[in-house]
Amino acid sequence: MNKLFLLGTIKRLSIRVALVAVVGCCTVTEIKAQANTGDSKGLKDYYQPYFPVGVAVAPQNLTGNDANFILQHFNSVTPENAMKMGPIHPREDLYSWKDADSIVNFAQKHGLRVRGHNLCWHEQTPNWLFTDSTGKQVTKEVLLRRLKDHITTVVNRYKGKIYAWDVVNEAIDDDNTKFLRNSLWYQICGEDFIVKAFEYAHAADPNAILFYNDYNTERPEKMERVYRLMKKLVDAKVPVNAVGLQAHWSVYEPTAAELRNTIKKFASLGLKVQITELDISIYPWEKNRRSLRPGEKGEYTPELEQKQTAKYKEVFSIFREQKKVLTGVTFWNLSDRSTWLDEYPVAGRKNFPLLFDTNLQPKKVYDEVINFKK
Ligand code: GLA
Repeated sequence: MNKLFLLGTIKRLSIRVALVAVVGCCTVTEIKAQANTGDSKGLKDYYQPYFPVGVAVAPQNLTGNDANFILQHFNSVTPENAMKMGPIHPREDLYSWKDADSIVNFAQKHGLRVRGHNLCWHEQTPNWLFTDSTGKQVTKEVLLRRLKDHITTVVNRYKGKIYAWDVVNEAIDDDNTKFLRNSLWYQICGEDFIVKAFEYAHAADPNAILFYNDYNTERPEKMERVYRLMKKLVDAKVPVNAVGLQAHWSVYEPTAAELRNTIKKFASLGLKVQITELDISIYPWEKNRRSLRPGEKGEYTPELEQKQTAKYKEVFSIFREQKKVLTGVTFWNLSDRSTWLDEYPVAGRKNFPLLFDTNLQPKKVYDEVINFKK
C-alpha cells in the first residue's frame, strides 16, 4: 500500500467519522430543517445570548415542513388563536382543549417555551359570558365569577408548561381622548375586571409571568395611557409583571426614539417588556376594514423591501441593546406565505410583513437581522 493511498483512506475515513458524529448529534427533524435554508443555524441561535425568539402557531403548523421550520428558527411558541376565550371555552359547560393541547404537547416534546394568549379580551370572546339564559346582560358579580372560573381552569391545566400569560389584551381605547375601552367587560365591571383577571391568574399559577398586552404602544399618546394603567396596577400591588408590545408595526413606524422611550418607560415601573406579535407591514397602519381601492395593488416593491429591511435592522438593534428589560421577541405567523395581514384590514390585499418569503425561505431582511456585531 503506498503512502498516498493510505493518507487518502485515512482522510476519507475521518470525513465519514466526522459525518457520523454530526449526524449523531442531530435529530431527523433538525437535518430536514437545515435543508430549508442551507444554514443549520436559525434565528433562535443567533439570538441565544439575548432572548428567546418565538412565533404564533396554529395546530396545522405542527407537522411536516412547517414543524421543521419552527424547530430550526424558534424556541418559543404562542397559540395564535387556540387559547382565546371563544375557541377554548365556547359554552359555559364546554372547554375545547384539543388545539391548545396539541400546541403545548408539541412544545413540551421539543423543549420550546409557550406564551399563553390570552385570558381576557373584548374580541373572539363568546356571547354566553355576558348574558344569562334569557339573553339578559349578566351582573358584575356573575361576570367576574365566570372570568374566575375560566382563568382558573385554563391556567391550571397548563401550569408549569406555560411560562407567561397575556392576561389582559387591549383594554385601552383607540380614541386618544379616552382611557379604557368601552367593552362589555368595562360596561359591566368597570376597571375591576383588569385587577381581578391578574389576581385570578396569579392565584392559579404564582410562577407564571403575567402580561398586559396591547398595540400601538409606541405612539406617545397610547403609551402614556398604557403607562397610566400600569402605574395604577403596580402602585396597587396587582400581580402584573410585564408589558407586551404587540408590535404590529409598519415600515413607517415606530421611530427608534419612540420604541426606546416606550421600553424605558415601562422598565421604570420595574416591569419587563416583550415584543409579543411582531410583524412589519409594508403599508401604513390601518384598523378599519375596507375593500381594495381602484389601482391599489399589494406589491412588494424593491423600495418597500429596502424600507422594511431598514426598519427590521433598526428595531432588532434596539432589542439587543435593551436585552436586560426585553425578555422575548415573538413573530406573528411563520412567513409571508400566509399572515393575518393578508386579509386585515383590506380584504384580498397581500402583505409581506415577515422575515421569510412565501416558500419559507429567508428574505434579504433576514440577513440584516442575523448579521450584527456582538
Ligand atoms: C391582536 C391579538 C392577536 C391577534 C391579532 C391579529 O393583536 O392580540 O391575538 O388576533 O390581533 O391576528
